Order: sequence, then structure tokens, then C-alpha cells
Amino acid sequence: MSETDPFRQITRGIYTCLENTGGASYDFKAGYYERLVSTHWFNRLFWDTSRNDYQEFAAKAILRTAGTVLDIGCGGLAQTAQLYRATSNDCILLDRSLEMLKIARARLSADNGQLPSHIQLLQGNAFQLPFPDNTFDIVCSFGTIHLFDNKREFVDEALRVLKPGGRCYFYSMTNERKISRVFMSSLRLIHEFGEVYSAAQTLSLFHQRPFLLQSHLIGSTIFIEGRKME
Ligand SMILES: C[S@@+](CC[C@H](N)C(=O)[O-])C[C@H]1O[C@@H](n2cnc3c(N)ncnc32)[C@H](O)[C@@H]1O
Repeated sequence: MSETDPFRQITRGIYTCLENTGGASYDFKAGYYERLVSTHWFNRLFWDTSRNDYQEFAAKAILRTAGTVLDIGCGGLAQTAQLYRATSNDCILLDRSLEMLKIARARLSADNGQLPSHIQLLQGNAFQLPFPDNTFDIVCSFGTIHLFDNKREFVDEALRVLKPGGRCYFYSMTNERKISRVFMSSLRLIHEFGEVYSAAQTLSLFHQRPFLLQSHLIGSTIFIEGRKME
């Protein structure tokens, strides 16, 4: 990011567009969350997926595309750090949590202590993205939609910044299996998840738009990809 951008650096390699840089819910569980989702058993037990399922899908967005990429709610890049290191796309990785962004920074700079020059880490709010309409060629967001009650608002804001002709990639957890339903409903009681949706309900967030959509379900995770019509 150049000095003319409206973002300020808060710590090495991490910029913010927020007044209040603290207080994100993931700040308090960043390390724990990142360790949990990196385990085989967690993904298999609760979602009946593998890390490979997530990485293969994310590779479509990050590696097998050309253009500018925005990842909303990038977290610590448990599934995606290698993909971001390998891509030649210019990428902005945005998250509300500074602690998650620090984990992302550590993973991205593991080789030589330097952040790759094509990657920018930005603290920001997914519901008020600091970009004009139609900015990015690729918008992706992994493991996020199910967190929010205002899911439609989240999707609308993500798609607002996608260029016509651009591609979007999302995956989200759903209640398609009993153990997923019980797990999500329990965590919803302590505000860890938003309203628990089925795969069809999640997909319906993308309907009634000028979009070409494809989706598939693995276990209880729905993978959605689309292209915004020109
Ligand atoms: C379940 S984690 C997923 C992280 C990563 N995408 C992955 O697949 O491992 C959700 C992430 O969304 C971030 N997040 C939650 N609310 C947000 C918001 N309003 N704006 C930006 N990021 C947010 C959290 O800080 C967290 O890093």
C-alpha cells in the first residue's frame, strides 16, 4: 500500500482503516481457533470435510485466477497461507481481528521474515469495506457467512466491491448433518455463530442477482462460486 492510501500502518506490514483497532471477538481466541481448524479430526467430525477440500476450493480463487483478490475474514490463513505465497495476483487480505492478521503475517513471512510484496494485510470491517464499488477481479470469503445474523448484508457488501465479470468464491458451514446442526446451535447460544442455515438457505443469499452461480456440498460445508454478469 502506498502512503497515499487512506490506511495507516499499525504494526509491521498490517494496515487499518478502523478507528478502534481492538475488541474483535477473534482477538481472544485467535491462536486456539487456528490450531483447531488445522486439525484433521475437527473438520472431519463436525463438517465431514478435509483440509484438502478447503484448500482445493481456495486454490481456484487464489491461484487459478488473474487479477486483484480481496479475501474477507481471511483469519490466520490456516488453509490458505501457501496459496497466497504462491500466487502472483495482487491480494488484499482483510480481517477485523488484529491477532488473526498477526498469525497471517507470521505464516506469510515464514520463509525469510518478509511479507510477499503482492500481499497486503488490512484490518477492516466486512460490513463496511473501504473500497469503491466494482474494485476487485476476485472476491473470496471462507468460513464466514455462517458467523453472521445479517448474512445478506455481508454478501451484498462483498459483491458490491466485485467488478462486473469478476468471480467470487465462498464457503460456509450449514446444518446439513445432525452433528453440525447440534454443534452450530450450541455455539449460537454463546454468540459464536449467526442464525444456523441449511445449504439451500445459504445459496438463496446469492439469488435474484445478475450472477452465474455454481455450488456443491461436501459434508455440511457449502462451496459457492459465481461470476458477476457484465
Ligand atoms: C471462522 S474464521 C475464518 C478464517 C479464515 N477465512 C479461514 O477459512 O480459516 C472467521 C474470520 O472472520 C473474521 N471476522 C469476523 N467478523 C468480521 C467482520 N465484521 N469483518 C471482518 N472480519 C471479520 C474473524 O476475525 C475471523 O478471522
